[in-house]
This record gives sequence, C-alpha cells and structure tokens, in this order.
Amino acid sequence: MLRSLASLLFYARFVSSFSALGYRRAARNWDDFRPDFSGQTWLITGATGGIGRAIALTANQHGARVLAVARNGDKLAALKAAAATPKRLVPVCCDLSLMAAIRRLTESPAVSRRPIDVLVNNVGVLLNRHQLTDEGLEMSFATNLLGHFVLTEGLKQMGQLATDGIVINVSSGGMYGMPLKLEPMNCQAAKDFDGMAAYAMHKRAMVELTAWWNQQWQGQPGVQVMHPGWVDTEGVKTSLPGFRRTLKRVLRDAAQGADTVLWLADKRPEASEKGGIWLDRSLQPAHEFSFTRRTTATADSLAEYLADINQALG
Ligand SMILES: NC(=O)c1ccc[n+]([C@@H]2O[C@H](COP(=O)([O-])OP(=O)(O)OC[C@H]3O[C@@H](n4cnc5c(N)ncnc54)[C@H](OP(=O)(O)O)[C@@H]3O)[C@@H](O)[C@H]2O)c1
Repeated sequence: MLRSLASLLFYARFVSSFSALGYRRAARNWDDFRPDFSGQTWLITGATGGIGRAIALTANQHGARVLAVARNGDKLAALKAAAATPKRLVPVCCDLSLMAAIRRLTESPAVSRRPIDVLVNNVGVLLNRHQLTDEGLEMSFATNLLGHFVLTEGLKQMGQLATDGIVINVSSGGMYGMPLKLEPMNCQAAKDFDGMAAYAMHKRAMVELTAWWNQQWQGQPGVQVMHPGWVDTEGVKTSLPGFRRTLKRVLRDAAQGADTVLWLADKRPEASEKGGIWLDRSLQPAHEFSFTRRTTATADSLAEYLADINQALG
C-alpha cells in the first residue's frame, strides 16, 4: 500500500517533464537541428529496440558508420534493411549480459578496425523475474551496469575510444528514487529480488560512473549521461504494462527518446566531474530528493566493486 502510494507520488512529480508533454514544451525553444556525423564511427548497444533503433537509424541517416549491437540476428538484419545507407550499418550480434562475450566483442575485427567516435551505452532491461546469467550474475545487473563498465573500460584500455570522441550513457529518471548502494546491486537470491529497485540502482550507478570516468579520463573522451523520459517501447510494454496502460497517451515516441543522445553527440558540451543528467538537451541535477544523497558508497568504491567482479570472472 505504502509502496503503491510512493510510486504514485513519484510518477505525479515527474509526469509533466518526463512525458511527451515535457518534450514538446522543451522543444519549443530549440533551433533547427541538422547534425553531420559523416566520417564518424558509432557503437550503439541495444540498437534494435525502441530508443537504440531510433539512435542507430538517425545517426546512419546523418552520415555515421554504425556498429549496431544486440542479440537477435533477424532484428539486426531488419535494422540494416531499414537504414538510409545499409552499407554503413554493421550488425554485431552479442549478448551484453555476458562479460566473456563483451571481451570478445571489443577484440572483434568489426569493432577494432577504427576508433569509436561515439559510444552509446543504451542497452537496459527492467526484469520482473530473478534470473542468473551463465556467469552467475543477476541478469539486469550484468546488462544494465557491469556490461557497460566492461565494454567501456575494455575499449578505452585498448585505445579504441577516439580521444576527441564521446561516450553517452543512457540512464533513467527511475534513478531519482534510489541512492547509490553496492551490496544489493547483484542480487543472488530470488526471494530478495525487486526488479524495479534493482533497475533504479543500476541507473543511479551509471550517473555516478559517468562523473567518475570524467575524473579519470579528463575529458578524453568526454562522458555524458542522459535519460530519455518515458518512451513507448517494447521494453516498457513487457516490463511495465500497467504504467504503459495508464500513461499511453502521453508517452514519448522513440525519436523523442533518442533526441538528447543525438544532440549530445553533435554539440559535445563540456563533460562534468560534478554530476548531473541530461534531459531534453538540458543538464538536470543528479538528485531530486535529499535521501538519495545519503549513502556510504562512493563512485570510487563502485568502480572498484565492478572491477573486482569482472576480474573474478577471469
Ligand atoms: N522506454 C523508456 O521509457 C525508458 C525510460 C528510461 C530509460 N530507458 C532506457 O533506455 C534504454 C533503451 O530502452 P528501450 O525501452 O528502448 O529498450 P527496449 O525496447 O527493451 O530495447 C532493448 C534493446 O536491447 C537489446 N538487448 C536486450 N538485452 C540484451 C542483451 N543481453 N544483449 C544485447 N542486447 C540486448 C534488445 O535487442 P535483443 O533482444 O535482440 O537483444 C533491444 O535492441 C534502456 O537503457 C532503458 O533503461 C527507457
């Protein structure tokens, strides 16, 4: 009962900005946007789904060579067929919940051929059922957080991220309800699993990691984190059917969800070590409630925690 009330208050607080109404209001002040991504190589994870697909097709349309990563070969083939310039869209099949597969991905000829100018860490899942990967990790933790860490660190260490490039992390407004915590992040027991809380934790962690990478890398490349607002996608349909039923008329379309990623890739605003998260081309605070600032975990301890888990996997 208390939890339903808290969710209701949370959604009521953000509906005017996270919905399509918020997007339309913000877009009234925007200039004409005609990016030119020619000559750039992009790697986009979760590229066949709602937001990732819109990013991949638009980047390709504006000249980028796109490495599109997802699991399903048929969906990847359909994405290539839908591209404005199919020869510049390279389907890459990889299960991003498996760290061994990500390591192979970073070394594959398709990925290592040219430096990556724009890395979009977009893949994300909200699971209502507890599941462990073959590597023994909780599935959403592996997909939403550890996988991004392993991919981004792997590419950086191999010199595969262009120093004047950009990494864009896709988080979620759901993180506003969650402080940074480490212990329950990779939940091992089904009885303790709360899919919504786990998702919010991973998305909060992506905001912290973004500032940490900017500290470590001093803007070479710069790292940004954004959230797309509430977008009508297959992910929402499967994971949040009640939310979708209630808000269907005001959900954003995939192009609206993708807009800020494309804008960040074009404008390259200064990368911040202090935190913050982009929504609708505007930098927003990383915290909306004081309780999410009260945490014993730090970005350093988060990075160490992720590196240790990855190392233990070999
Ligand atoms: N939709 C929203 O309202 C909303 C709100 C806030 C934040 N976000 C965030 O935006 C991002 C995109 O969300 P979306 O709603 O567009 O997602 P979606 O419709 O569920 O699409 C997910 C994509 O990820 C791929 N994928 C899933 N698991 C994978 C895995 N293990 N390995 C490789 N690829 C995998 C899927 O393709 P395959 O199944 O073929 O692999 C698909 O291309 C996510 O990070 C999400 O958390 C979305």
